[in-house]
Amino acid sequence: MAWVQLHIQSDSEHAELLEQMLLEAGAEAVSMEDSEDTPLYEPERGSTPLWDSTTVTGLFQGDADLAGVQAQVAEAYHSVTQTHLESMETELLEDREWERAWMDDFRPERFGNRLWICPSWQDPPEPDAVNITLDPGLAFGSGTHPTTRLCLEWLDANPVRDLEVVDYGCGSGILGLAALKLGARHVVGTDNDPQALDASRDNARRNGIPDDALALYAPEDQPDTRCDLMLANILAQPLLSLAPTLAGQVRPGGRIVLSGILSSQADSISDRYAHWFHMQSPTEQEGWICLTGTRHTD
Ligand SMILES: C[S@@+](CC[C@H](N)C(=O)[O-])C[C@H]1O[C@@H](n2cnc3c(N)ncnc32)[C@H](O)[C@@H]1O
Repeated sequence: MAWVQLHIQSDSEHAELLEQMLLEAGAEAVSMEDSEDTPLYEPERGSTPLWDSTTVTGLFQGDADLAGVQAQVAEAYHSVTQTHLESMETELLEDREWERAWMDDFRPERFGNRLWICPSWQDPPEPDAVNITLDPGLAFGSGTHPTTRLCLEWLDANPVRDLEVVDYGCGSGILGLAALKLGARHVVGTDNDPQALDASRDNARRNGIPDDALALYAPEDQPDTRCDLMLANILAQPLLSLAPTLAGQVRPGGRIVLSGILSSQADSISDRYAHWFHMQSPTEQEGWICLTGTRHTD
């Protein structure tokens, strides 16, 4: 199948806003590149500074309504910034080029102390660590995006042994798989994209997860669930509208990890979830925020 890329010229200030708008408009993945080959000298450790002139690229399936996407992004951008986008260009991309580009970029990566995500074509650098084999695919969640990274680092740093977990917006299944590999008893994965459910199922098999440890559902089919830990890396708007649903699935004393939130959105989401949870201090990477909370017991 062919794919289409939408390239948008931006500056460093607006690149992440455009990334979010492209994801909201249905992009399967978003990348950012220097538009002018400007080297970045000695960026601060742990930060990914953006170039003055940045090309933000969204990847869409070949049959996507690109004219509709362009109109949606242009309108959303104008309503936030009161300015117009400089330029948007589309490019047809064949499958093999896309896969090749991913393979070149994708390397084993460690999250926290003991959790590694490794592509299948490379040996795990630490065979005795907690290794998850995951190849980049169509479903979001290869670990490289800060929103996923924040959740993986949280999982690495917190006890999950024997917990019942929900991975809401499971994408590739990466967070649920990490929880299971770290000792969780059972994971319910939910996603409104059928491709994500297929990807999660395939990735679970590749990682030797027993069939009865992971149950996958479309949101409307998910049975009544009570979990000890809710992981939800979806964007701010769904996190707000789904708040009662997500909160209702967490047992008293259980925990919630919310990601996919820009710093400007963190307060409103924290306030909303404070109705059910005692919210802890946020963590931040590259302008993305992860919020965590513990469900009230009364
Ligand atoms: C940002 S990706 C996160 C994937 C993976 N959990 C990770 O952490 O990398 C968000 C996922 O949530 C799904 N999603 C978005 N809105 C949703 C909704 N209202 N209900 C269920 N899934 C949703 C998307 O299809 C996508 O797979």
